[in-house]
Amino acid sequence: MKPALSFLARLAAVAMLVFAATAQAGDTTPGEQLGRWSAEAGTPGNAAKGQMFFNRRHGGEWSCASCHGIPPTRQGEHASTAKPIAPLAPAFNARAFTDAAKSDKWFRRNCKDVLDRECSAAEKADVLAWLLSLKP
Ligand code: HEC
Repeated sequence: MKPALSFLARLAAVAMLVFAATAQAGDTTPGEQLGRWSAEAGTPGNAAKGQMFFNRRHGGEWSCASCHGIPPTRQGEHASTAKPIAPLAPAFNARAFTDAAKSDKWFRRNCKDVLDRECSAAEKADVLAWLLSLKP
């Protein structure tokens, strides 16, 4: 009885730890998301292409950098509302790219604002490969 009980208690403690970790950090990691978009695109992310894609304009008024800054390692500022935006590069923001639904939502929204279309999986992989290469 006693060993079984302590096993259960340990199991519960581990489950709680895992839950706390995922509740705090989201449901994925930047590396996992890079893997997801690379697999979808059939090619690994290209950091140099991602940097160019991020910093240039695509026919409209804004680039990604308009809100996220150059480089996106510090707090950015929304180009029209001036609301602060947490750093996009994962090495500078532990929560960046740790929630798949959030990443999908903002990629969809921001790409429509900047490119007037959704970004392709290859473009997302390129941008994230570049963001992951930015280190303090
Ligand atoms: C008009 C301002 C604006 C522009 C332009 C913009 N973004 Fe964003 N972006 C935001 C805001 C605001 C958030 C949400 C920040 C938060 O809640 O942490 C965000 C969040 C994101 C996220 C989610 C990050 C995560 O943790 O999952 C990604 C990815 C992203 N932006 C990529 C881009 C890309 C790529 C471009 C260019 C195509 C771009 N953004 C252009 C304002 C902008």
